[in-house]
Parts: sequence; structure tokens; C-alpha cells
Amino acid sequence: MPAACVIGLQWGDEAKGKLVDLLAPEHDCVVRYQGGANAGHTVVSGDQVYKLHHVPSGILHPSVMNLITPGVVIEPSTLLKELTGLEARGVNPRKNLQISERAHLVMPWHLLEDQLLNGLVVQGENIGTTLRGIGPCYRDKVGRTFAVRMTDLLQDDLPARLGTIVAAKQTMLAGMGGKELADQLSSDKVIELAAGWAEQLGPLVGDTTNYLLDQLDAGKRLLMEGAQGSLLDIDHGTYPFVTSSNASGVGISGGSGVPAKWIKRVIGVTKAYSTRVGGGPFPTELTCETGQKIREIGREYGTTTGRPRRCGWFDAVAVRYTARLSGVDAISLMMMDVLGHFEKLHVCVAYDIDGQRVDRFPCSASALRRAKPIYETMEGWKADVTGARHLGELPSQALRYIERISQLIGVPVKIVSVGPDRRQTIFADKDKLLSLVD
Ligand code: GDP
Ligand code: IMO
Ligand code: MG
Repeated sequence: MPAACVIGLQWGDEAKGKLVDLLAPEHDCVVRYQGGANAGHTVVSGDQVYKLHHVPSGILHPSVMNLITPGVVIEPSTLLKELTGLEARGVNPRKNLQISERAHLVMPWHLLEDQLLNGLVVQGENIGTTLRGIGPCYRDKVGRTFAVRMTDLLQDDLPARLGTIVAAKQTMLAGMGGKELADQLSSDKVIELAAGWAEQLGPLVGDTTNYLLDQLDAGKRLLMEGAQGSLLDIDHGTYPFVTSSNASGVGISGGSGVPAKWIKRVIGVTKAYSTRVGGGPFPTELTCETGQKIREIGREYGTTTGRPRRCGWFDAVAVRYTARLSGVDAISLMMMDVLGHFEKLHVCVAYDIDGQRVDRFPCSASALRRAKPIYETMEGWKADVTGARHLGELPSQALRYIERISQLIGVPVKIVSVGPDRRQTIFADKDKLLSLVD
């Protein structure tokens, strides 16, 4: 029966990939429904580490169908590299992957526009995008005039359309001060590139929307894989320091075509601390040695860009907000092993903004920049918990930390992760968690 979802509750990289891979065998389909190659999802299987950008994290399970649905923006060259990389390691993604004909393409000009615009300061800071062309592609999707979809790759009139778009984009880029970038665009080259994409990706393109609706009618189980994190949601995140899609739970239905009535379980994924990569306010950020220590122990470097992630204490104001926004039923608390290296832990329970205590996550980036965290201090457990497989094997301080996070968010913690490997996961009542019957 119906759909379960894995949603990031912070600024991305909460370890959604690990969880989706782990839960995939209990489902018939894994669905990636928003974002694009800005995502970097890591799956660790024994000594093998897979870094996935477009391909859903259920791909290592041959019996599970993996779908990339209309809300995703696809950079075909990156996707093809991903497929070849998987094939070289003995995975056969062409057997269990389908791409929506409605998905939009990140075209070469989107990458150039991202490069040009990302140099600009927005509200005092650079957004610091992943330079994967995400914002420009979604902008053209909504704008409708210059968009290219997967289905267009298979149409005869594509070369003529691409010629028109390239000419317009050259004028736009030059007008934005990017004459050198505009000169890199050639319609002949783009047309040739698109023909190659059509040949190599064409066999994977299909009607994922009806496929999923048929699956639901047949009583199959879907697992929806969020990309990014809810605080990067275009409508509900720390705008303008966000990505360009609905990365919180509100995006599931729109991006996949799966009606909301089928969504029965939402698992919110959060680290036991906080990280952020790129620009934007981050109230609990630690720019001191402690932040550096979290980064090194947690290996907090971007999966897609390799940038060092900014690190800080757990922010319960932010996660309470995103858990409610995404309709989260259960929390998966990741990276508990990393906190095993600290004497004292701090959890942000409210903000002080201009002398006022604030319990609700504010809308404006400038208010959030002025927010001083009000911390509660907890005892650390100073122990290696990477070998724990049951809650009872965790030190009492770790159990108290989990319980406190649960209370502060208002949602039970049902999964605890103590390392990157599949086995380093503790489930409290897995069957109940995954039974999609209310
Ligand atoms: P995603 O984008 O949400 O899928 O997360 P990323 O893959 O970008 O980043 C999560 C990183 O943490 C990856 O390198 C994972 O292998 C790793 N990881 C996952 N769970 C744990 C955990 O419990 N402890 C530690 N130390 N690392 C973890
Ligand atoms: P996963 O799925 C962390 C951040 C970028 C930048 C902002 C906008 O691995 O959790 P974009 O390229 O989307 O226009 O960049 O969003 N960002 C992510 N940060 N994890 C991600 O994905 C991210 N995808 C985008 O760093 O601040
Ligand atoms: Mg990531």
C-alpha cells in the first residue's frame, strides 16, 4: 500500500541517500521528484561508496524500480556519466530506471547563467550555488518560452527550436555582462549534443506519472526520495538562500504526480547537529574549533562540490518548523557517532532576536542573521557508538539526547544512525514504522 517519504529537515546532506537505500527493499519503487544534479546522495554498501546526483538511491536494488519524475531537472551529460559510472561498478541502472518525459533539461546556457549570476551578491551574500544550472533551469521552466523537456529530445522540430533558444540566450548572456560566456554557445554544438542525449537516454524516457498511478492502483508501495533539505525549499526555506524547488514535504505531490492522499508516512531526516553548505544565515553555526572538529569527524565536505560544510549545534527551532511543515511522523536522527567526541552538547531551543525570545522560525534572512541561539546544555556520552545496533546499547546520555530532541521537535525519533554503513542503523519498531496502514 501507498507511499512513504524521506525528507531532509535541515539544509541538505542529512543522509537521505543512506536511508532511502536502506528502506528501498521494502518498496516497489523509489521516486526522485525534485532538484537535480545539485543533490549528492551517498550510499555505502560494504566497502563500496556510491555518490548519486540524479539517480534515485534505490538503484542498487535490482528488484526496485527507480523513477525520475516531472519535478526533477536533468543535466543529461551528468546523468550519462552517472549511469556509466554505475555500469563500470557492475550495477545495471538501465534495467530499473525510468525518466519522465515531462522532466526539464538543464541546458549548457543554464550552467553559464548560474556561473554568471552566482558571482552576484544577494541580500549581502552570495547564494553559493552548486553551479549545476538549477536556478536558471527552473526559471525557464516557469517562464515556459525557452524550456526544453525530455520529450522534446525525441521531437523532429528540436534542432530549429534549439537554434532559436541559443540565439536568444546569447543576447541575454551578453546583455548581462557575459559576452565571453555567450560566445561559448554554438547552436550546432548544442544540436549535436542533444542528438547524442536522445540516442542514449531515449530508451529510458517514459510516462512515469501513469506508471506510478498504475502502481498505486495495483497496491504497490512507493518510497519518495527528497533532495536538498526543507530549509532550502523555494517557498518555505531561508529565501533567497535556498534552492529553486520545493525541497520540503510540500513538494512531493507536485514533483511526482502522486496525489497527496497516497502519502501515508513521512520520515524526516536530520543530523544530530547542523550543517549548511553555501551562503545564507545559520544561527547555530560554530566558526570556532568545535565547528572544525565536527567537520573533520563527520567528514563534512560537500558530496557534489567538495566544499567544506559549515557546522553547528542542533537547531530545534528550525527542525520543529520543518518537521511540522513536512508533516513528519517519525524522525531519523543521523550522525550520533560524531557527537560521541564531545564533553558537552548544546541544543538551540529558541532564538533571541533583538532582545525578544522567539520560538518560531522567522521568514526573513536578516532576522535570522540577527538571531542568537538560546542553548540548553547536555552531557555528551564520550563513547564510540559506531557498533551499537540496539537502543539499549547506547549510553544513557545518548538516550537522553535522543529523547530531548524528540520532545523539542514534537515527533518521535524512530531511527538512529551511528555510521555511514547500512548496518550502522538502529530501528525502533521498523515494522510499525513502515506499515502504511493507519
Ligand atoms: P544526503 O545528500 O542527504 O544523501 O547526504 P550526503 O550523502 O550528502 O551526506 C551524508 C554523509 O554522511 C555521507 O557521506 C554518508 O555516507 C555519511 N553518513 C550517513 N549516516 C552517517 C552516520 O550516522 N554517521 C556518520 N559518521 N556518517 C554518516
Ligand atoms: P542534497 O540533496 C546541501 C545548496 C547550495 C546553495 C543553495 C542553492 O545532497 O542534500 P543550487 O545549486 O541548488 O541553486 O544552490 O542550495 N544546495 C545544497 N546543499 N545539499 C544539497 O543537496 C544541496 N543542493 C543545493 O549549496 O547554498
Ligand atoms: Mg548531499
